[in-house]
Amino acid sequence: MLLSRTNVALRSAAFSAAKFHAARSITTATPSITEAFSAKKNDKGNYEVTLIPGDGIGPEISRSVKEIFAAAKTPIEWEEVDVTPIIKDGKTAIPDDAIESVRKNTVALKGPLATPIGKGHVSLNLTLRRTFNLFANVRPCRSIVGYKTPYENVNTVLIRENTEGEYSGIEHTVVDGVVQSIKLITREASERCARYAFTYAESVGRNRVTAVHKANIMKLSDGLFLDVCKDVSKEFPNIQFDNVILDRACLHIVQDPSLYADTVMVMPNLYGDILSDMCAGLIGGLGLTPSGNIGRDASIFEAVHGTAPDIAGQDKANPTALLLSGIMMLRHMKLNAHADNIEQAVLKTIAEGKALTGDLGGRATNTQYTAEVIKNLQA
Ligand SMILES: NC(=O)c1ccc[n+]([C@@H]2O[C@H](COP(=O)([O-])OP(=O)(O)OC[C@H]3O[C@@H](n4cnc5c(N)ncnc54)[C@H](O)[C@@H]3O)[C@@H](O)[C@H]2O)c1
Repeated sequence: MLLSRTNVALRSAAFSAAKFHAARSITTATPSITEAFSAKKNDKGNYEVTLIPGDGIGPEISRSVKEIFAAAKTPIEWEEVDVTPIIKDGKTAIPDDAIESVRKNTVALKGPLATPIGKGHVSLNLTLRRTFNLFANVRPCRSIVGYKTPYENVNTVLIRENTEGEYSGIEHTVVDGVVQSIKLITREASERCARYAFTYAESVGRNRVTAVHKANIMKLSDGLFLDVCKDVSKEFPNIQFDNVILDRACLHIVQDPSLYADTVMVMPNLYGDILSDMCAGLIGGLGLTPSGNIGRDASIFEAVHGTAPDIAGQDKANPTALLLSGIMMLRHMKLNAHADNIEQAVLKTIAEGKALTGDLGGRATNTQYTAEVIKNLQA
């Protein structure tokens, strides 16, 4: 009885996985497309970029980014949209004009969003990821001079496959007390993510890509991910390729993070989720960590911290993570000179330590910190 029910469950899981894969392959981009950015300047010579200020401290830190970008004469016009969820066909959804804005501009900067707790609410972050096929999450973590942590030599870049793996959402009960969760790895999603990792390495001048995996245990699933990375590496003869087992990578990183300072690490979903927060911990936490969600239809850049409801509306929030995400966005848009200028102003402000917010051990308000960054911009 148990065996036959298990077989039925397994067949149905395999069917779900195949359906899932078939559904997504219809919408797949050609292999040469690694990221979406096709925006053109408008007649005023600016790029239009969607801004989702978000909840809690989101509007305060977004205001700070807007002020600093304007002072640095960044050629950007913000199109501010509200993503407060609406109910559509009985389900939580993002308002159509917000979706339309991101689709049109192909690039967005996003503040944190509060996830409503309770049944029937889908996380808005997940909805955005699905709506725009945000297939890779990029998380650079670099030690910041002036903010002391036990590590001074962190300079990691991690790219996480964002759409499948352990997070494919295919789970079921086989029999009472026995549940099964399917880790789905497809050639298509692995290839898209691996190709982006190599392209990213090239664009930021890193000469190595490292696949992080457990192919020694999950021979088929992680084995496929690793094989695909190896195949894609042949298209990039100037970039070295190597691989490391996940547990070994964790040990190395906490012993000596500089071992990974010249490479771009690429990995399946769950490993990326955990390892990226671990790297953020080494540089002092999520408050200083930017991220980019790279997609087929658009790319969305965001701070990885939440809405900080405990300090919202008090002018205490540190806008650095959103600013650094904005800087990643500028590089994605090839506005490198503006990115470099704003970045040096942020790093100088933190290194000088005159106007640090409370989370960095200072007493400055967000307004004072923002003014100091603007003062440190190069003319
Ligand atoms: N990407 C996102 O949109 C995102 C990510 C994480 C959490 N959330 C949501 O945010 C809400 C609150 O989550 P949480 O309390 O677990 O985490 P949180 O990151 O909002 O806050 C954790 C702690 O860090 C502090 N903090 C966070 N960002 C800060 C900043 N920029 N400056 C100064 N201090 C900062 C907060 O004051 C708080 O003490 C929840 O609704 C959660 O779902 C959203």
